[in-house]
Amino acid sequence: MAKTKYHFVCQSCGYTTSKWLGRCPECGAWDSLSEEAEVTAKSRSFLPTNAEKIKPKTIASVAQTRVERLATGIREFDRVLGGGVVPGSLVLLGGTPGIGKSTILLDAGLRFGQQGIKTLYVSGEESEEQTAMRAARLGGANDNLLIMTATDLDAILVQAQNVAPKLLIIDSIQTMYNPELQTAAGSVGQVRECTAKLLQFAKTSGIAVLLIGHVTKDGNIAGPRLLEHMVDVVLQFEGDRSYSFRVLRALKNRFGSTNESGIFSMEAGGLQEVANPAGLFLEDRDGEAAGSVIGACMEGNRPIMVEFQALVAKTPYGMPRRTAVGFDYNRVNMLLAILERRMGFDFGVYDAYINIVGGMRVTEPAADLAVAAALVSSYRNKPVPKGVLAFGEVGLTGEVRRVSAPERRIVDGINLGFTKFIVPDSNIPLKTDANVQIIKVKTLEQALRAMFYE
Ligand code: TYD
Ligand code: MG
Repeated sequence: MAKTKYHFVCQSCGYTTSKWLGRCPECGAWDSLSEEAEVTAKSRSFLPTNAEKIKPKTIASVAQTRVERLATGIREFDRVLGGGVVPGSLVLLGGTPGIGKSTILLDAGLRFGQQGIKTLYVSGEESEEQTAMRAARLGGANDNLLIMTATDLDAILVQAQNVAPKLLIIDSIQTMYNPELQTAAGSVGQVRECTAKLLQFAKTSGIAVLLIGHVTKDGNIAGPRLLEHMVDVVLQFEGDRSYSFRVLRALKNRFGSTNESGIFSMEAGGLQEVANPAGLFLEDRDGEAAGSVIGACMEGNRPIMVEFQALVAKTPYGMPRRTAVGFDYNRVNMLLAILERRMGFDFGVYDAYINIVGGMRVTEPAADLAVAAALVSSYRNKPVPKGVLAFGEVGLTGEVRRVSAPERRIVDGINLGFTKFIVPDSNIPLKTDANVQIIKVKTLEQALRAMFYE
């Protein structure tokens, strides 16, 4: 047998080098390189080694096979996958600890079982009793869902072959362990090799494999982005643990669109689907208050109405403070600068706080108009009248720019009872009744005037 070669791998970014370094030249992390066994290319390939077997084909002769997807019946979950899990695919579900990854996949396993789809759920983190207790909490058990606690990947694959499920769930990839490698479970080398092995297993057996992966503080799937290239689908489970609202997003999907997102709320009996999320965050709102503006944001393909709150207060001493929760801090600073330079506001001696209600995170520039309006509303201590909905991107010259899907945002807004819409100027082919006012604006100034004075 060939002698095993060793190299050094950065545990935070995966950079590989033949000699030890104190600091990773790729990501700058100190003392992050550790020794790992080199894996030869041969052991990693899952394609047939016999060169004779590989022949080019015409697309028509290949494209005819239709994939039967395995669906859970949880609509929000299936939609993100593009209709269900494709047999023989490798799916990675990432998310911060405690967000509900084990819960959603165990629930999915139970539902697959109910549809007669045999599933094996392997946990490396919780005992069989714990998993069974959780399943009971989620509403029962069935004979098609098998559970097992193990971390030795070879043993798991042997069992998976014996049981022959349609789906194998691994919770989590960071706890899996390939005895051929000498490094500890969770190291870059282990995570990569275990994933490669599972990939080979999925492709050769036709069993779909769902992996849970923990995400580090900066949002990367630990051990590192490398995994994203190897798997077919990357799902991300997001939310704020202090709130019940959760979003499932596809960051990569070889079998479907990455525009879809699934929306859930975490309840005592597991995750509940939120089929109609548009008004989710408006339930606790009553009356009008200075500094609060409702904006329409897109979550995947669906609009969600979001309450933006601003508080502008005199700085007690020194430098003004700016903070943003749920929204990009730099964008708040940019909007403040636009309001100062283009419209003559003076925020120089004021602190400014932005908060998005309900633990929602908005990254869309379409929220600019609502954020700017909330800042002005708080500064002037003047509430925005009830029934106003605003969206639009604000440019550096103070212009209001177009955003995607204006019709859908307006239609959902009308359904929720909004009556006055401040939107970017564009030809929106909408038929509305007399009670609904759609005000198209070109500049931030026009928008604010329409909101507060007209
Ligand atoms: P979990 O799935 O263990 O998180 P992860 O696997 O991502 O680390 O979810 C843990 C949280 O979910 C825990 O704090 C309790 C909560 N939870 C509920 O609110 N309801 C439930 O029915 C279940 C099973 C969990
Ligand atoms: Mg877990």
